[in-house]
Amino acid sequence: MDDPISALDSNVKKSIFENLFCGELRGKTRVLVTHAVEFLDQVDRIIVMEKGRIKYIGTYDEIQHSDEIQHILKTLEKTARKNSELEEDKEENKEDKEDVKPDEKLKKSFMSEKGTNITEDENEEKIVVGWKVYYSFFIKNNSWIFYIFFITLSFAGALAIVFNGIFTGRFINPYEEKYSFWSLIFISLSLAIVASIATTIVTTGISLATIKLTRKLHIDMLEKTANAPVNLYFDKTPSGRILNRYSSDINKLDNGIDKKVGWIISCFSMVIFDIVVAALNTPFVLATLPFIIIAMVILLRYYIKSFREVNRLGSVSHSPMMNLLGETINGATTIRSFQKQNDFVKTNYKVLNVVTNVGFWRESLRSWFAIRIEFVSLFLLGFTSGFMLYYRSKADPILIGVLFNRFIMFNMMLLFSCQLLSDLEGDLVSYDRCLKMLEIPQEREQRKYMPELMDWPSQGQIEFEDYSLKYRPDTEVVLKNLNFTIKPKEKIGIVGRTGAGKSTICLALCRIVEAFEGKIKIDGIDVSTLGIADLRERITIIPQDPTLFEGTLRFNLDPVGTIPDVELLRMARKANLEEFINRDDKGLDQKIEDGGKNLSSGEKQLICILRAILRKNKIVLMDEATANIDIKTEQIIQKLIHEEFEDSTVLTIAHRLNTIINSDRVLVLSRGEVQEFDDPQKLLEDQDSMFYSYANELKKHEEE
Ligand SMILES: Nc1ncnc2c1ncn2[C@@H]1O[C@H](COP(=O)(O)OP(=O)(O)OP(=O)(O)O)[C@@H](O)[C@H]1O
Ligand SMILES: [Mg+2]
Repeated sequence: MDDPISALDSNVKKSIFENLFCGELRGKTRVLVTHAVEFLDQVDRIIVMEKGRIKYIGTYDEIQHSDEIQHILKTLEKTARKNSELEEDKEENKEDKEDVKPDEKLKKSFMSEKGTNITEDENEEKIVVGWKVYYSFFIKNNSWIFYIFFITLSFAGALAIVFNGIFTGRFINPYEEKYSFWSLIFISLSLAIVASIATTIVTTGISLATIKLTRKLHIDMLEKTANAPVNLYFDKTPSGRILNRYSSDINKLDNGIDKKVGWIISCFSMVIFDIVVAALNTPFVLATLPFIIIAMVILLRYYIKSFREVNRLGSVSHSPMMNLLGETINGATTIRSFQKQNDFVKTNYKVLNVVTNVGFWRESLRSWFAIRIEFVSLFLLGFTSGFMLYYRSKADPILIGVLFNRFIMFNMMLLFSCQLLSDLEGDLVSYDRCLKMLEIPQEREQRKYMPELMDWPSQGQIEFEDYSLKYRPDTEVVLKNLNFTIKPKEKIGIVGRTGAGKSTICLALCRIVEAFEGKIKIDGIDVSTLGIADLRERITIIPQDPTLFEGTLRFNLDPVGTIPDVELLRMARKANLEEFINRDDKGLDQKIEDGGKNLSSGEKQLICILRAILRKNKIVLMDEATANIDIKTEQIIQKLIHEEFEDSTVLTIAHRLNTIINSDRVLVLSRGEVQEFDDPQKLLEDQDSMFYSYANELKKHEEE
């Protein structure tokens, strides 16, 4: 167990340690890695580690004999003694027991109030490619003239190919001597060049126009995704679905849709010209056309409808596969420790099976269509040949030669054009899905020019006025009618039980979630009137899960790249990060993997804290920023924060009381409501305060 209890409040921590680790797991060998030193006297053996080596191993009593270890333990004990937590008042505990049963609670956390899943079902998002999508893809971004130009050019290319056949026929006809050898070569070559230039212009022109369109769409999608609100979009949308849009859907638009449009125009021009040549030869061929057209329309309607559904299923089936794969990779350690590899392989296999099944249906459908198209073209070929044989005395033998030459490829051309048409429809499903991304909810205005923001916030006063917050319209109110004022430069500690709403206060201040009612004012300005980016760049937040990015250590400490190395190193030394920097020859250039995979949780937190300190903002929010840091380093960090943020307003959320005991005031939060907000020493003097009862409980805990 790798420090699983660090972010819990001490009631929960104690209950988990006693009931689970010492209760349910009794009889098993248990190895607990932890910063929670208050439990050391209850374990069989303690292993003290330093710099990757075991420094000492022994029981709690044995360990007392080593001066050095005793010193470490004393420091730990001293801090543990200071550590206190909030005991919920008895009434609330009672309410808790009566209110919701544990499994109901669990259910609630997965379901919204209406009893539906938080995430929207992707299957419900049925997409029919209507004329609107065609209009948006073809017409909205390019005018009619654009397509008329390309279609005319394509017809010219097809005409050149057919004429080339006729001229070549004339040339090899021994009875015709109208043309000299060189004139025929010249004409034939010119027609071939015209045909290839026409095809090149058509395909290149359409490619360029499509690339321009899809690039713009991709950029717009990225902008929309970047500005989508966390609570209303990311919480509701599985990451696999978003990744699917940016991989499979975008890939279809980038790789192929342009070629398909070009080919469809070229192939249909060829098909039309083949029919024209046949009609020139034997006008009776035209009599077959209505039948062919009717057959084609029926087949295409049936095929395109089914193909569209299969394509939709294909796209939808990709999202769970990506989700599950992501979960499997990220949760590899947990899966292995529970010996659930086989189960995950089986589930992955099942999901993959759906994806490949869809592939099979797609190919079957293609074959079904191909066989029927073969019949249609054979019907046309048979009729034309029959007519020609019957009227062979009147027909032009060269035209017959050209026609048969063309007809060998006719069925292929017809099949190819129809399949391209249905593939295009499939790609347009992806285009439509991408268009839908442009309609996702957006955060309010990012930037807003306001002259008073020049030196705002100069003081750092924060006022909550009748402030309430809901994560989503269909969920419960999490922060309830908050009314309090934080004075400039004050250092505030925020405490409360797990789920009390502490982290939500940080989200509210940065407007990650907008207010449901009431307002927050910073230095007298209602934050909801500001541009969101303007607000966020003036507030520093160290979240509960430290986030690092792939790149160098320097980039992670100073993403904007404005702070000189000397300053970075000076601050790193102060924050106890010097050893970490020097462990690699590259120093500040050492590589950080994505998400900080190559660092310990404490190191990640330290880097995040240092990044925050270097930003030097007037308002700083720290959410359990030091939960995974050892107590000695935490003390160094506390000192550093005290020095560096002397002129800033600092809100510190912590479950360790020693982290906030020296704050100017402590805000005690319970179920989204402010219970107490006062000087911690004063609260400790008041026997009725929640703070006091907590301290009492801790005392009892120590005496045990
Ligand atoms: N994204 C979310 N969507 C819906 N409800 C949420 C979301 N995040 C948090 N909540 C709910 O809001 C309440 C407060 O959560 P919050 O994260 O603020 O608690 P906390 O006090 O920071 O707890 P902890 O000490 O465990 O970090 C909880 O009941 C939680 O279930
Ligand atoms: Mg929290």
